[in-house]
Amino acid sequence: MWSPSLSSFSVLLAALQPVAAIWPAPQSLTTGSSVLYLNQNIKVTYNGESIPYTYGYVSRELTSKEVVQAGISRTLAGIFESKFVPWKLHKRGSKWEPDLSQGQQWIKTLEIVQKGKDEPSTFKPLAGQVDESYNLTVSAKGEAKLAAVSSIGVLRGLETFSQLFYQHSAGTFWYTPFAPVSVQDAPKFPHRGVLIDTARNFLPVADILRTIDAMAWSKLNRLHVHVTDSQSWPLVIPSLPEVSEKGAYHPSQTYSPEDVEKIQTYGAERGVEVYFEIDMPGHIGVVSLSHPELIVAYNLQPYQWWCQEPPCGAFKLNNTAVDAFLDKLFDDLLPRLAPYSAYFHTGGDELNRNDSMLDEGIRSNDTEVLRPLLQKFIDKQHARVRAAGLTPITWEEIPLEWEVDMAKDTVVQSWLGGDAVKTLTSKGYQVIDSNYNFWYLDCGRGQWLTWGNGAAFAQGYPFNDWCGPTKSWQLVYQHDPTAGLTAEEAKLVLGGEVALWAETIDPVNLDTLAWPRASAVGEALWSGRIDPATGQNRSLVEAAPRLNEFRERLVARGVGASPIQMTFCTQGRAEECEFIVA
Ligand SMILES: *[C@@H]1O[C@H](CO)[C@@H](O)[C@H](O)[C@H]1NC(C)=O
Ligand SMILES: *[C@@H]1O[C@H](CO)[C@@H](O)[C@H](O)[C@H]1NC(C)=O
Ligand SMILES: *[C@@H]1O[C@H](CO)[C@@H](O)[C@H](O)[C@H]1NC(C)=O
Ligand SMILES: *[C@@H]1O[C@H](CO)[C@@H](O)[C@H](O)[C@H]1NC(C)=O
Ligand SMILES: *[C@@H]1O[C@H](CO)[C@@H](O)[C@H](O)[C@H]1NC(C)=O
Repeated sequence: MWSPSLSSFSVLLAALQPVAAIWPAPQSLTTGSSVLYLNQNIKVTYNGESIPYTYGYVSRELTSKEVVQAGISRTLAGIFESKFVPWKLHKRGSKWEPDLSQGQQWIKTLEIVQKGKDEPSTFKPLAGQVDESYNLTVSAKGEAKLAAVSSIGVLRGLETFSQLFYQHSAGTFWYTPFAPVSVQDAPKFPHRGVLIDTARNFLPVADILRTIDAMAWSKLNRLHVHVTDSQSWPLVIPSLPEVSEKGAYHPSQTYSPEDVEKIQTYGAERGVEVYFEIDMPGHIGVVSLSHPELIVAYNLQPYQWWCQEPPCGAFKLNNTAVDAFLDKLFDDLLPRLAPYSAYFHTGGDELNRNDSMLDEGIRSNDTEVLRPLLQKFIDKQHARVRAAGLTPITWEEIPLEWEVDMAKDTVVQSWLGGDAVKTLTSKGYQVIDSNYNFWYLDCGRGQWLTWGNGAAFAQGYPFNDWCGPTKSWQLVYQHDPTAGLTAEEAKLVLGGEVALWAETIDPVNLDTLAWPRASAVGEALWSGRIDPATGQNRSLVEAAPRLNEFRERLVARGVGASPIQMTFCTQGRAEECEFIVA
């Protein structure tokens, strides 16, 4: 039998005190136990100017005031409209709601002060260009104050503010039981992202916008859209209309230039920078449907000889027609993306050497022959990106497997795990970590390939995918991209991204797979692995009740996030579902 030791007794006591369940955890948070009610006629000021609360206010342009005003509207709607009565987070039969008959102390004012001036880069920053820090206080008398350097910091603070409140089950009362509150907060990493894949299965614009909302609530700030791949090309390029006409799965499964701008501005208004990837020179077979002369190995079988999954297809690496096509493509696309993004991802993963055997201009799979051709291909592609004022991002194979040289401000996205992050940062590259062992959220759900009877069946059985097991929120949460790095190397880690490769993801299961596991990486990257209060690794036992609560908020706000525990646990104390070493 387990009997509580002194230290677990004090943990028990701590767990009985309600603590604000802010997700991601602020760098510093103190709370009290007074109840304050949020007045629906709350007066909000921004740098001294009154901002009336208009339900559903949408910013008309990317200016500080418009962005903040829309942020206030969303924040208050998130409190007043989401009807979040947290019975699931309290013990069965316990009395946990404030007694309305005792009268109300109201929060009547929210004073927002932005101490710095936004720059054009505030809405499309390079890593580190925007200060997202904020301080938030709510006094016992009901004066709320939010201070930040940038309008994006204001948005981060407003989200924290919204997470202090619950709706009363009696109806139109919204309260926080945690006054007085004091928060000081800033992110640990500047790049906190989610990768979506709109080529394996299409995602309609509405699903992408909902993803951006949930990202902003999780203080995630980069949406990486892997927009094309060998399977489909949904992106309409007006100067090359045939590419999506032939390459989209269906005329309805396309993004017009207006859709792209809508997605980017929707993100920018929420402090989520949306950037795009057109993967190449592999992962581009779909171009064969409109321009077969540019592509080798399209849809060849057995696919294993030519690529990682069907259909194969790569650009010819030494071909002037490919250059002309890419000039035209990026002259059209990049100037439209650049107003809302600092980055463009040029791909570069999983190029199979055999493809160039079929290229009449090369006919070789020898690395020594291919490497200089790939170097030229990448040089030209990165020159196009830089000419548009964007910074290129590539997958790790380009510098590590192919040893292509790139300017040191190129950002490298690492996914293969092992020592890659250390190797890349020791070479001086800035790195985004997407280690598949931790941050690939599509993994561990079985194969999508099918297997004929006989030898294939025997090879495939029991039909696991390549990257199982499933990455649980705990595994996602505890991964530290700077573990094992020197301080110098760690400085070059911009942050990370979770990936939702979409072979078996579409709008029906997107939310359940993304959330709240992407929120777990939100805390890993915003708050950091170490809890400043203890100087130790953050504890899963401490995190679980907060993530349970945040999941309920996601659901209340219209996102189909999965439960991470059963109601027995969410209604209990944290330790009731804690594993105790026997
Ligand atoms: C938050 O408070 C700390 C401590 O007083 C101060 O150093 C910092 O500048 C404040 N930040 C903002 C954005 O006001
Ligand atoms: C290239 O193709 C040959 C068969 O021609 C195959 O044995 C080899 O594994 C392939 N290489 C790769 C990297 O797929
Ligand atoms: C690349 O193309 C040029 C021009 O067609 C040709 O001279 C050269 O030999 C090719 N390089 C390789 C490695 O095949
Ligand atoms: C190159 O092609 C030859 C002949 O098909 C094959 O045996 C060899 O495995 C290939 N090399 C690589 C690295 O794929
Ligand atoms: C902290 O967590 C990391 C994994 O993120 C782990 O490698 C390390 O051993 C942990 N440290 C302690 C003291 O538990």
